[in-house]
Amino acid sequence: VLETGTLSIVVLGASGDLAKKKTFPALFHLYKQELLPPNEVHIFGYARSKISDDELRNKLRSYLVPEKGASPKQLDDVEKFLQLIKYVSGPYDSEDGFRLLDKEISEHEYLKNSKEGSSRRLFYLALPPSVYPSVCKMIKTCCMNKSDLSGWTRVVVEKPFGRDLESAEELSNQIGELFEEPQIYRIDHYLGKELVQNMLVLRFANRFFLPLWNRDNIDNVQIVFREDFGTDGRGGYFDQYGIIRDIIQNHLLQVLCLVAMEKPVSLKPEHIRDEKVKVLESVVPIRDDEVVLGQYEGYRDDPTVPDDSNTPTFATAILRIHNERWEGVPFIMKAGKALNSRKAEIRVQFKDVPGDIFRSKKQGRNEFVIRLQPSEAIYMKFTVKQPGLEMSAVQSELDLSYGQRYQGITIPEAYERLILDTIRGDQQHFVRRDELKASWEIFTPLLHKIDRGELKPIPYKPGSRGPAEADELLEKAGYVQTHGY
Ligand code: BG6
Repeated sequence: VLETGTLSIVVLGASGDLAKKKTFPALFHLYKQELLPPNEVHIFGYARSKISDDELRNKLRSYLVPEKGASPKQLDDVEKFLQLIKYVSGPYDSEDGFRLLDKEISEHEYLKNSKEGSSRRLFYLALPPSVYPSVCKMIKTCCMNKSDLSGWTRVVVEKPFGRDLESAEELSNQIGELFEEPQIYRIDHYLGKELVQNMLVLRFANRFFLPLWNRDNIDNVQIVFREDFGTDGRGGYFDQYGIIRDIIQNHLLQVLCLVAMEKPVSLKPEHIRDEKVKVLESVVPIRDDEVVLGQYEGYRDDPTVPDDSNTPTFATAILRIHNERWEGVPFIMKAGKALNSRKAEIRVQFKDVPGDIFRSKKQGRNEFVIRLQPSEAIYMKFTVKQPGLEMSAVQSELDLSYGQRYQGITIPEAYERLILDTIRGDQQHFVRRDELKASWEIFTPLLHKIDRGELKPIPYKPGSRGPAEADELLEKAGYVQTHGY
């Protein structure tokens, strides 16, 4: 899988939440699958705290050991993986720390390299965006790959990429002055989810979707994210961003692109991303009366959240795409924390059958559902004859539940897949700069209105469906509640 030579993976912000919960476990899974060969790979943790290699390893261990009792082999794997990790401490804005880091990486390269080996350096910024510019500058000044021979340096950055169009553009300019676009990997972990990746195959490899996937047949599309827990100790971070910046502007908008885009010329990353940008650029300004915001009761009890916070923890917004395929079809984006369930799904609802002789409308419409999580599934609601003596119609499902159909296949974690892509140099599932800009263009006017307090969130009970006004908006947009699942 890997090219030859050494691969140094540097996790900056090594003892932070994201690194512990996502980045290191993803690296560990890749290691277990022999995708990170120990004779080539070395992992470096970098952060400000002055701890030893072993102290970092101790912090990481519990995130790598399986929850339900580990076998001696599993424990052994964890220990071997931890031995690949070295820790370097230093600030994010001074050359001293990064020179030291470079020295450590170079030593590893010197030890492991064959004569012709390449030097591949991956920098994963598990850090707040405020330090991206200085960290990127330090990497550029002190830590670039040494061999030109098939060597490279890549940086991986996490959302939030800015707070609005202006700040995102500024960030992009700062990083863009230091690195070329092929060196920058903007992660949106939803693009690493199995069923998100499946969208292209579903849409473009199935004859029966081709003629139906348009405004003539589809009434509305819902893209929904629900969590059944609140901000859980992340209130301080969350309050600066809110649910639109945290989930909708990135994760759900990326999903929308895959649902709505035209067929790309090929599977080349540039072709796919070209089509996504076209969708984003066709979205018309969001109307205030097509937005419902909510904030769950108790959100402000978090001591890190201001008592008068106007930050939404729930939002429904209707996006409209002005093009030949989608004119008139509402794309209902919905995301909320502290709701009644944890679920992320895409619901494509078809129009009623014209001249219906079964009066099947009351049974519900055809609906095509892609459940991203939990329990990945694709199912289709359709109407059949109620088995029995009577000639009546009833709604049923064609159901592809992954747990049943693909027993024994472990679905990879989003981060695992995406990190492997960064090593392979595949940018298909990463956000390109113009995509990022177009996403911010869609939401910035709305976000500014919320920031100025012109739009206010409606309180809702934790564990509920969110504000009732959101369901009313859904109905107004044409969504008809279906039965069954
Ligand atoms: C993150 C958000 O990007 O995605 C979190 O910052 C959210 O607030 C998380 O909980 C959800 O990810 P997943 O993969 O659990 O749906």
